[in-house]
Amino acid sequence: MMIELNNVEKWYNRGTVNEVHALHRINLAIEPNQVVCVHGPSGSGKSTLLAILAGIIGPTSGSAVVNGRKLARLPDRFLTIHRRDTVGFIFQRFQLIPELSILDNVTLPLLPLGVKPAERNRRAMVLLDLLSIGHRARFPAAEISGGEQQRVAIARAMINDPPIIIADEPTAHLDRALSLEFLSIIEEFKRGGKTIVMASHDPLVADSAVVDRCLPMRDGRLEGPLQPI
Ligand SMILES: Nc1ncnc2c1ncn2[C@@H]1O[C@H](COP(=O)(O)OP(=O)(O)O)[C@@H](O)[C@H]1O
Ligand SMILES: [Mg+2]
Repeated sequence: MMIELNNVEKWYNRGTVNEVHALHRINLAIEPNQVVCVHGPSGSGKSTLLAILAGIIGPTSGSAVVNGRKLARLPDRFLTIHRRDTVGFIFQRFQLIPELSILDNVTLPLLPLGVKPAERNRRAMVLLDLLSIGHRARFPAAEISGGEQQRVAIARAMINDPPIIIADEPTAHLDRALSLEFLSIIEEFKRGGKTIVMASHDPLVADSAVVDRCLPMRDGRLEGPLQPI
């Protein structure tokens, strides 16, 4: 199993007036090379779930095993390695650094690994060309369109060739044509053997043929059949 959550609970600000019970006993198993879409209304816990899978935040209780690693028991420095090697995260607002070039945004995750600049740039250019934005490599990220920013964010998430890609509301800032293009990129990644988990309230994503499994989420609970297919 690529991803296995057992009785995962998440509270924010527990014991204060601001406490939120964001996830209720989440049980979930995802096989390698599946494309899964978690969908549900705003506030239902989708981003929290993805952040736990990515090792960005920890569950309050329960266990999360991702690519053979038991996340809750990992010291911080191993969580950092998990985030870097296992998961490529595509953020909702892309989170590019506007004053850096596209190339520098994409190569950023390679800096702490001591990869030589020429090799960093070579790997980034392969991805940027694959995503048809190689010609924009030297542009500052501030000066490109939303669809191009999306593709830069994808390239940055893929630069370490992670087995798992996580995308939070990947089409929220894209029009229909670009959303379909995004889905065809996801299809390519699936063909390349990746496991993909997306959160979206966009029916275009949830109903897409590339999605193997759709998980409805409501009020911090996953609904529907939860066994692996
Ligand atoms: N960092 C946080 N601190 C406190 N509450 C949070 C935090 N992040 C999310 N929440 C709350 O947790 C619930 C689930 O949020 P979220 O996972 O962002 O849902 P979704 O992505 O489906 O919109 C919401 O009630 C939200 O307000
Ligand atoms: Mg969200």
